[in-house]
Amino acid sequence: MDIRQEFPIFNQLVNDEPYVYLDSAASVPMPLSVQQRMTHFMNTDYANVHRGVYTLSQRASDQYEQVRQIVQQFIGAEKSSEIVFTSGTTASLNLVAQSFGEYFVQEDDEIFVSVLEHHANLIPWQELAKRKHAKLVYMPVTQDGYIDVHKVSFMVSQRTKIIAVTQCSNVLGVCNDIDTLSDLVHAKGGVIVVDGAQSVPHRHVNVSKYDFVAFSGHKLGGLTGTGVLYGKHKWLEVMKPVLFGGDMINQVDKFSSTWAQVPYKFEAGTPNILGVITLGESIKWIQNIGLDTIDKHNRLLTEHLLNGIKDIQGLTVYGTTDMTLRQSIVTFNLNPIHPHDVATGLDMEGIALRAGHHCAQPLMRYLNVSSTVRASVYIYNTLDDIEQFIIALKRVKEYFK
Ligand SMILES: Cc1ncc(COP(=O)(O)O)c(C=O)c1O
Repeated sequence: MDIRQEFPIFNQLVNDEPYVYLDSAASVPMPLSVQQRMTHFMNTDYANVHRGVYTLSQRASDQYEQVRQIVQQFIGAEKSSEIVFTSGTTASLNLVAQSFGEYFVQEDDEIFVSVLEHHANLIPWQELAKRKHAKLVYMPVTQDGYIDVHKVSFMVSQRTKIIAVTQCSNVLGVCNDIDTLSDLVHAKGGVIVVDGAQSVPHRHVNVSKYDFVAFSGHKLGGLTGTGVLYGKHKWLEVMKPVLFGGDMINQVDKFSSTWAQVPYKFEAGTPNILGVITLGESIKWIQNIGLDTIDKHNRLLTEHLLNGIKDIQGLTVYGTTDMTLRQSIVTFNLNPIHPHDVATGLDMEGIALRAGHHCAQPLMRYLNVSSTVRASVYIYNTLDDIEQFIIALKRVKEYFK
């Protein structure tokens, strides 16, 4: 399969240079096969789901529900009813905090988080801790930038109700030992909530050891505004819905109502039908290539990138450079040039990447910087892309000298 052919968007010059996309940690552009599936669905089967008895509505509903099974199989969930469709990782994590957190966390309980968290896996817990008068506890991080599970093992107690943790950091690219964290918190009767936004597109994630896992469709090559919350059935059963309206009810009376079964009680209103259809197709696209192939390719490019920039004077790479502990995100600064100037200079050379706090302000403070530059690769990037980036970065450095 020629993967580049799936992405006509890359066949263009940007600022007179070949376009090099190094922002896949933000979003993975939609491959042609996924786009084709979407237009085919729109042209042949499009109708609202779950509501109509007419043929097309039933066809649309069947395809929508089939995606639940595709996701279930992709992440190793026991039941397809454990898959809740949401608008993204942010919505999934907010749902867990607002519904499960409200039920499970009491005054003086502890919620463990870390400085590595994306704001989406931090602020919902801050707000819950405030509402419940619970304690937000920060798990220590090693010099290399991943969570120190050994230290955490001495911190967990019966009070530790939730460990909310990112599997792989969207800034440092390091991946945490979430299996050990899961064992630690389960031994004390608590649960683990995993932010899988940066891990699910890159590695086999088997959710069976975890209580909740959240991820986004647009980081897998699907549409924006689509995501998944995996939740263990026993927890979804006891959780209350937080969004009320059509499609999520069993019976509505004048003064009270009852809810549909799991997972429908969490999917109020007309869902993102196209988003779910593209999610299913993008997972198939990933499975066709194979997560092992994706991981191997990304590691090769990331190693090449790290080697190519490590000797540039003034350059600091954040997080470990040990490839066994990280994946395809490289975050750096090129002192004394401001990260936004680095990114703007690189844009002039056709290279798209991120500069800023990456929705991780506590991590920026921990690193003692206000912002960084982030390059992230995926299966469609080539060694030529990396070469162009390395040359461009050296040019930016010369320019600002
Ligand atoms: C680790 C992590 N968590 C959460 C999110 C939020 O995802 P979304 O904006 O799709 O809800 C992101 C997005 O960049 C992320 O990288």
